[in-house]
Amino acid sequence: MDAPYQAAPDVHVYPANLPIPGVGVLPVNAYLLMAEEPVLIDTGIGVDGDDFIAAVSSIVDPQKLKWVWLTHDDADHTGSIQRIMDLAPNAKLVTHGFSAFRMATWWPVPMERVHAIRFGDELHVGDRALTAVAPPLYDSPMSIGVLDQSTGSLFTVDAFGAILPEPTQDASDVPPEALAGGMLGWATSDSPWAHIVDRERFSQVLDRVRQLQPTRIFSSHLPAASGTSLEAFLKVLETVPDAEPFMPPDSHHFAQMIAAMAGMQRGSTP
Ligand SMILES: [Fe+2]
Ligand SMILES: [Fe+2]
Repeated sequence: MDAPYQAAPDVHVYPANLPIPGVGVLPVNAYLLMAEEPVLIDTGIGVDGDDFIAAVSSIVDPQKLKWVWLTHDDADHTGSIQRIMDLAPNAKLVTHGFSAFRMATWWPVPMERVHAIRFGDELHVGDRALTAVAPPLYDSPMSIGVLDQSTGSLFTVDAFGAILPEPTQDASDVPPEALAGGMLGWATSDSPWAHIVDRERFSQVLDRVRQLQPTRIFSSHLPAASGTSLEAFLKVLETVPDAEPFMPPDSHHFAQMIAAMAGMQRGSTP
């Protein structure tokens, strides 16, 4: 896990940056939204469990955590879900109902604490209301993003993710061309279905995101970004349907990647 940072007065970021040899890093973020009733959005990756729990607990007493909003049940979002729900007995689990059912195949989900949501639902968290919104790209049909109506913060799940040259805490630190290329690469690998969409209907989907007019963009796979970046990001997403399809590594290439990762680990060991 990388060092947590504060991206807005009410938003804490818990980042990990997964190395992709020869390419860069993939950020994986969980967020803590310090509403009157605090909301943890996703729970990091499993290998970071102890650090993640300590980092969240340093900002909010788990007993005071009211909501755990799980954007979807992929492994990079559910790393500490069971530990968090155990440590935060007053928290409800806000998620797609089928995410709850599917997770029950690998941990004992307390169904009586699940607050099932779908697009358009509002969640009142004390001083503000959150709206459940559809991300424009996604790798799971259970994906549900969050719009904080009071601040305009938009949590976009896997959408607007990017593979980056190096870790950073602000998307504007990344050269625009590298960011656009990394976002396109991520989008084609995470949402390969985008190649078969009706272009006109896809642009309507992007337009709906535009109309949300977010002030800040918090992707699960991008450093914090200003809402002023939205147009540039949407321009990248517009090109996804006709972009080169992503090609995963074959066994030879994969072995090379693993060897490179081993080399990187040796290099970082004192
Ligand atoms: Fe995902
Ligand atoms: Fe993800």
